Amino acid sequence: MATNGRLAGRVCVVTGASGGIGAATVAVFQREGATVVGVDLDADAPGDLALVADVADEDQVQDTFQRVRDSYGHIDVLFNNAGISPNDDASVLDTALEAWERVQRVNLRSVFLCCKHGIPHLLDNEGPMSGSVINTASFVAVMGAATSQISYTASKGGVLALTRELGVEFARRGVRVNALCPGPVDTPLLRELFAKDPEKAARRLVHVPMGRFARAEEIANAALFLASDESSFVTASTFLVDGGLSAAYTTPL
Ligand SMILES: NC(=O)c1ccc[n+]([C@@H]2O[C@H](COP(=O)([O-])OP(=O)(O)OC[C@H]3O[C@@H](n4cnc5c(N)ncnc54)[C@H](O)[C@@H]3O)[C@@H](O)[C@H]2O)c1
Repeated sequence: MATNGRLAGRVCVVTGASGGIGAATVAVFQREGATVVGVDLDADAPGDLALVADVADEDQVQDTFQRVRDSYGHIDVLFNNAGISPNDDASVLDTALEAWERVQRVNLRSVFLCCKHGIPHLLDNEGPMSGSVINTASFVAVMGAATSQISYTASKGGVLALTRELGVEFARRGVRVNALCPGPVDTPLLRELFAKDPEKAARRLVHVPMGRFARAEEIANAALFLASDESSFVTASTFLVDGGLSAAYTTPL
């Protein structure tokens, strides 16, 4: 186990590890000395150990954390990051109940399960700082979009409220719990949108004061801060990393 770095000696579990933000975070956590377990539906997740699991399935979640504990003896950081945003989740007028429930299952129920079965391992650690939980919400948890994805937005609002409550509940037991709320991130999905419909992409971009989308590494760096002891007084927070998006009324030309 590495002895150097901001996460030296820590065992971190990253869900959605094969995705844009997940993979970038695995790399940053490893660079900072952590042992990282990548969890994903995808079999080739990055990390020191890759585990295949559906994070919305209770048995699989319980088993995943037990396997990490058995492999490394302790768990220090949970980055509950897996999520989906399918095209058939749109306006409330057009979204089928099945799509609503599919998105709630992956985005909200999974975070409940990963906290329910992950936090007990963090509480087993000795010392005043037992662990850090980072749940990925989104800027849409705090502001509305005319280009609605109704179930996605509601799921992220749920993640934010759940996280705040857990942060308060565990504050005196050494476990910090924060909601990481990224603004739009430059992912293959967004690049496709730019290529297909530059006008629609430009419409989104105009709301970001910085005039660009985030890079996955910039979200990973925020996760690093929340995972490390540098954020020792930060809990139950709505940690917005959005290029100023949620603060803007008008943006620079
Ligand atoms: N990309 C953005 O602009 C953006 C903005 C705000 C918030 N977010 C959130 O950040 C998180 C990561 O997003 P991303 O852009 O890296 O997405 P991504 O699609 O690149 O990665 C998501 C990963 O989650 C995995 N996954 C999906 N369902 C799963 C399940 N049931 N069990 C296990 N793994 C599962 C996928 O296989 C994929 O590897 C998501 O929660 C997303 O909602 C993204």
